[in-house]
Amino acid sequence: MSGGGAPAGRAGGGTVDASGAGGVPAAGSLTTSASGTGGVPALRVRGLVHVYPEGTRALDGVDLDVAPGELVAIVGQNGSGKSTLVRHLNGLLRPTEGSVEVLGDDASRLRVAALAGRVGLVFQDPDRQIFSRRVRPEVAFGPSNLGLKGKALDAVVDAALAAVGLADQAASNPYDLGYSRRKLLAIASILAMRTPIVVLDEPTTGQDLRGIDLVRSIVAALAAEGRTVLAISHDMRFVAETFARVVVMRGGRIVLDGPPGEVFAEQAWPVLASTYLEAPLTARVGARLGLGSTPTEASLVDALAARGAP
Ligand SMILES: Nc1ncnc2c1ncn2[C@@H]1O[C@H](COP(=O)(O)OP(=O)(O)OP(=O)(O)O)[C@@H](O)[C@H]1O
Ligand SMILES: [Mg+2]
Repeated sequence: MSGGGAPAGRAGGGTVDASGAGGVPAAGSLTTSASGTGGVPALRVRGLVHVYPEGTRALDGVDLDVAPGELVAIVGQNGSGKSTLVRHLNGLLRPTEGSVEVLGDDASRLRVAALAGRVGLVFQDPDRQIFSRRVRPEVAFGPSNLGLKGKALDAVVDAALAAVGLADQAASNPYDLGYSRRKLLAIASILAMRTPIVVLDEPTTGQDLRGIDLVRSIVAALAAEGRTVLAISHDMRFVAETFARVVVMRGGRIVLDGPPGEVFAEQAWPVLASTYLEAPLTARVGARLGLGSTPTEASLVDALAARGAP
């Protein structure tokens, strides 16, 4: 789906000051601790219910607090409400009940442009996000709507294209790129906006190992800048290796929330199974060998070494 103008939530609602969209400091000046933003949570979701017009109750009471600089994965079976939840974070959807606060302000009271300066959402389907006929203007759209121009704009666009490995494709038509690279282009468009909060809806879908590693390194780079990252994923290995916190959804509710070592520990497997998830292989091998919770390769290797395996 291309054409049809800029999608909602991509800073389409007028120009704001890039250095302080909605009073928010530019991402580069955020510190990694909650104290850097005066203790204000990055996100505060309370009693969030969303009923789509035709009657589906996609969210059924979600409470979620995310501190600045946290790395959070959201997982759960198809249709459990993950995308619906994150679409509330940049104002694409409004709550049927409950509230969403972004950096201390009620999202429903912020203008679309102000919210777009705070939360960058990479859509699950890149073809619903991409609307330009060339790669470079696609990436430049968001930051130029946030007020960047000239060399400053060129710099953020170049950096975003380089981060996703598309620097050589700046003049290409997005629809000549192939799905996995369109997905990376969609990520670049959001990276270029340098929002303090970045939300990635299934960034690794369709990516080979190199693409998954690239996404992992992008998340790590955002984390190193103190930015808050949420990502939806069905790839439990990627989740365990990349994120410090895992939120598990089922039927529009959060049913587990904790570090990978807890969420993928054997005691949690029945809850995971109830939303059609399975802990990563390393966790299952560790449990089978009586090594405790080993959600990552490093933790499995360490546990094996501690036990004296060859
Ligand atoms: N635009 C829409 N209109 C009506 N119902 C919708 C819409 N989008 C999602 N739904 C329904 O809301 C529920 C939650 O969907 P959502 O897309 O949030 O789930 P998800 O966890 O992201 O799933 P997936 O893993 O398949 O992407 C599902 O029952 C889905 O069919
Ligand atoms: Mg989804």
